[in-house]
Amino acid sequence: MTISHPSFGDIDDSRIIIFDTTLRDGEQSPGFSMNLDEKLRMADMLAELGVDVIEAGFPVASPGDWESVNAIAAKFAKDGPVVAGLARTGGRDDIARAGEAIRPAARRRIHNFISTSPLHMKYKLRMEPETVLELIVQGNEQARRFTDDVEWSAEDGSRTEPEFLCRCVEAAIKAGATTINIPDTVGYATPEDMERIFRMLKERVPGAEKVIFSAHNHDDLGLAVANTIASIKGGARQVECTINGIGERAGNAALEEIAMALRTRHDVLPYVSGLVTENILRTSKLLASITGFDVQPNKAIVGRNAFAHESGIHQDGVLKNAATYEIMTPESVGWTKSSLVMGKHSGRAAFRDKLKALGYGELGENALNDAFRRFKEVADRKKVIYDDDIVALVDDEVNRSHERIRFVSVEVRAGSRGPATAAVELEVDGELKQADAQGDGPVDAIFNAIGIIFTHDVELKLYSVGAVTDGADAQARVTVRLEENGKMVDGQGADTDTMVASTRAYVHALNKLLVKRDRREPEALTA
Ligand code: KIV
Ligand code: ZN
Repeated sequence: MTISHPSFGDIDDSRIIIFDTTLRDGEQSPGFSMNLDEKLRMADMLAELGVDVIEAGFPVASPGDWESVNAIAAKFAKDGPVVAGLARTGGRDDIARAGEAIRPAARRRIHNFISTSPLHMKYKLRMEPETVLELIVQGNEQARRFTDDVEWSAEDGSRTEPEFLCRCVEAAIKAGATTINIPDTVGYATPEDMERIFRMLKERVPGAEKVIFSAHNHDDLGLAVANTIASIKGGARQVECTINGIGERAGNAALEEIAMALRTRHDVLPYVSGLVTENILRTSKLLASITGFDVQPNKAIVGRNAFAHESGIHQDGVLKNAATYEIMTPESVGWTKSSLVMGKHSGRAAFRDKLKALGYGELGENALNDAFRRFKEVADRKKVIYDDDIVALVDDEVNRSHERIRFVSVEVRAGSRGPATAAVELEVDGELKQADAQGDGPVDAIFNAIGIIFTHDVELKLYSVGAVTDGADAQARVTVRLEENGKMVDGQGADTDTMVASTRAYVHALNKLLVKRDRREPEALTA
């Protein structure tokens, strides 16, 4: 059996469309916001991973969001994944803004959504069900004027009354939606609920045979992936997911877990995706390095213990036959032996090749020079350079070159004898500035000095230090979380010297705050 779709043509019923929402639902979670360069790099990587749809953002949310969706759409102007922009059904300018933002993409989608559960309609939207139905018709008809590929979502769909859900879905299909998404917005459903909902819609809604049904599960009860698999069993053929399972609150269903469940248990799940699963780990690591949030060690597929065998009995079994304790090969998701490759004698050409392999695409000459200079500095201080070291230093240097405040230098004096002091030099809007300060320890002294150079009023919510790789000479990766008027940002910095990394992280967070000050959040968005 096949179904015809405006972006994908005739699709076989066994094919699962992978809709990645790392750059939208994932980016919405606190501390996970990304700048334009970071989003473009993630988009490149997601394309290499083979996702079918990239939800690039929510264009009406801010000029910055519009710009990133538009830039990602331009990146895929000739070919590549479908680029989707989110819009509220019935939002003032949402659909038009989304339509303009996605226009450059070769294949483009408007994803419009409105709440359909009694709770959301009464308290959040303050609308009667009949008004919601009217908006669904208007919204999808309007979206079709921009593109033939229109997705409609019933927000809080899993808690919507079945009769009303069927009416909404029927109205959306009649008005032109080609994908119907039923989110478990609050992560409340069980696998049985999700399977039943999709079966019901497919059986009862006129026109259901013409559209793709889609699952979008949140992980509040830790059931997102199980609910997604159950949704497929019920008839969903698109799954919405994120790398590392990032997303609102407890996150979304993790792409890597769904992908490997389908591949590893093909015996009972006879479906295929177009993913190149060997690129999963690189994508996961790129996201972790951009956001500064590593996955927990025991995270399925991409955690550093996912293929590590500690107990003697397990090690012995794996040496005799890996299948004794490994249900998939580490290589099938991109784990390889330690990737030590570069040292202080490595040249510029090798470094450029390495950056390309790490997903940085073609860097401009200036950016490449900056990154190479920083690489040489680190290589002088560190015996071995791993891929993760390079990713950390490039993120620090190259991707921050356009920021208003730039790190120049830091010197600290600390110890058991007296107050710590720090001397910090920063470039602010191109002008070199310097300040000395004291503090309760060197980190406090550094942050005080930054406060003298660039006056600001924020609350430090988190300061954490981790190691980029193993060993006593490992680079420290510092995360700093700042809050200003309820807006929260995380900054990251890496260096072999923890105080340098701390200064870089604080400066990074400050730069993000400056960007966020202009950002207007749309009302009533729970996604
Ligand atoms: O969780 C949700 O309901 C969403 C929708 C916008 C699809 O993210
Ligand atoms: Zn969501």
